Amino acid sequence: MGKITSALRKAAEDRIERFDKIARIKDHDQLVIKRMSDSKVDQRVITYFDPKAVITEQYKILRTNVLSFSKTKPLKVMAVSSSIHSEGKTLTALNLAVAIAQSTSKPRVLLIDADLRRGRVAKYLGVKQPVGLANILKDEVKPSDALFNIDVENLTFIAAGPIPTNPVELLSSDRMNRFLILMRSKFDYIIVDTPPVISVTDAGIVGAQTDGVLMVIQAGRTQRGIVKRATELLNQAHSKVLGHILTNIEYHLPEYIYRYL
Ligand SMILES: Nc1ncnc2c1ncn2[C@@H]1O[C@H](COP(=O)(O)OP(=O)(O)OP(=O)(O)O)[C@@H](O)[C@H]1O
Ligand SMILES: [Mg+2]
Repeated sequence: MGKITSALRKAAEDRIERFDKIARIKDHDQLVIKRMSDSKVDQRVITYFDPKAVITEQYKILRTNVLSFSKTKPLKVMAVSSSIHSEGKTLTALNLAVAIAQSTSKPRVLLIDADLRRGRVAKYLGVKQPVGLANILKDEVKPSDALFNIDVENLTFIAAGPIPTNPVELLSSDRMNRFLILMRSKFDYIIVDTPPVISVTDAGIVGAQTDGVLMVIQAGRTQRGIVKRATELLNQAHSKVLGHILTNIEYHLPEYIYRYL
């Protein structure tokens, strides 16, 4: 009898140990990031090509400003959006993500392409559209199957994936919420690229699940009234606007600087 009890106990212990191992494998598995070696990064991801360029400096200033927004509770998950199309959201999100990953403290940065309608993160990184957020939200792949990186240390990205028929439902689903909570626990900073605010509701839905939205404004094109309307829409969706980033600004060096160049 005694022998049987101890044999049963041993069997139970073994099982628990095996469960432990499974749990650990799963946990580890969540961080497997696949390396894409043959990327042809777009020249406009200037932070990747030229750490010393004037424009890279601007992205570094943006990084400093964004990371020092709040001293008490640092921002961790930030969405990037704009009022209308083609204002520079995706390139801003990409350059900001690279600039943060290049910080001396080497934070783990994740860039998520949540523009499920015309996501272009993979295109700008010069890789073939891999499985992405749409596949995760449709429960076709685990988040760990969609984590990729190129040769930027500490920068992981999740592409948009194939265009779904129901982006709004997917982005407002419980699965999206759980996915972001999981990613929060795995990365130091998360940048989420989104579609424009005025045309579709996606940015407000995503923004409300982040710590705030950085609004891109294309100088010389977007009118004040449109930006105001976009801000109202974001507020209605319970998204917090963190600040505005102007793109398409022309640089004119003052004459006295030319003399020293
Ligand atoms: N900082 C910038 N200064 C000037 N032009 C820029 C800047 N950032 C992006 N652009 C230009 O704006 C255009 C759109 O860029 P991008 O794809 O990043 O915009 P988007 O807002 O993500 O567009 P969409 O609404 O289609 O997602 C590109 O032609 C790009 O070269
Ligand atoms: Mg875009």
